[in-house]
Amino acid sequence: MNQTQLQKKVPSLYEAFQNNFSIGAAVNPKTLVSGSDLLVNHFNSLTSENHMKFENLQPQEGVFTFEEADQLFAFAEANGKMVRGHTLVWHNQTPDWVFQDGDKPATRELALKRMKDHITAVMGRYKGKIYAWDVVNEAVTDSGEVLLRDSKWLQAVGEDYIAKAFEFAHEVDPDALLFYNDYNESDPGKSEKIYTLVKSLLDQGVPIHGIGLQAHWNIHDPSLENIRAAMERYASLGLQLHITEMDVSVFKFDDKRTDLLEPTEEMVELQEQRYQQFFDIFNEYKESISNVTFWGVADDYTWLDYFPVASRKNWPFLFDKNHQPKSSFWNIINDQK
Ligand code: GLA
Repeated sequence: MNQTQLQKKVPSLYEAFQNNFSIGAAVNPKTLVSGSDLLVNHFNSLTSENHMKFENLQPQEGVFTFEEADQLFAFAEANGKMVRGHTLVWHNQTPDWVFQDGDKPATRELALKRMKDHITAVMGRYKGKIYAWDVVNEAVTDSGEVLLRDSKWLQAVGEDYIAKAFEFAHEVDPDALLFYNDYNESDPGKSEKIYTLVKSLLDQGVPIHGIGLQAHWNIHDPSLENIRAAMERYASLGLQLHITEMDVSVFKFDDKRTDLLEPTEEMVELQEQRYQQFFDIFNEYKESISNVTFWGVADDYTWLDYFPVASRKNWPFLFDKNHQPKSSFWNIINDQK
């Protein structure tokens, strides 16, 4: 950033896009405190990064732990922020007890009862405070012919576990927007599967209102062409689209390099360019896209630090590790004027 930019008052990110879509950030108990200034000024929607997942909210049957989620709601209420719920039914971060009955696997009836009880307790507690929920996360396979991932939910309940989850959720909070959420959502093969799944839910009359595009992207992939094609396809279903977990890694997915303490100049330039192109597309699809959420607040903390490559930091956001706006931020803001 040059001196002129430093001296300018930093415009609010969410205000810049308020006629198009809301801007969200995923938070955890630490970043809710360390990132509070950025959250107050630049984001108008919050998502819990981990603390509203099944294993966090109901680690043992009937034992609910809402304290950390409640902190998020206290912050949201104090600062007038909306909350996106994440996530109710997923194959990961779900305790084993859900699928067991003593030493036998749980029957379909028992697994469905537990799904319903969980959804009822969690959505009931936050009813009216969550405008949109990721009801089912990542149910589709990444490759091959098979549509649905071979998960414990699929094994215990059968293919209609997805429809059931949406039906239970809609019963508890008929005003909440209900989303199917997935990653690699712009891959041509996978996006077709997501389309097929969601279309079949709609054809059965299942209450689903949107598709969440996680958007864990990087400075090389996916191509703009694939992103646009996926959005076109999803939007053709007449549903809302949310960008739910956006980050733009400076490494290609299979890049294992560990030598950098800062991103290279080339990475910074590419990231700037990519962010600008992504937001151009989001603006173009603003009739369908109603929220863009980043999977973090600023570069001082991201789940991509030390993952998938141990001992390597990443710098995927619009704010740097000192919470200053990066050149990518200024580009998309200046484009909005
Ligand atoms: C997936 C999940 C998120 C989160 C990320 C990694 O995308 O939907 O909840 O766990 O993986 O942080």
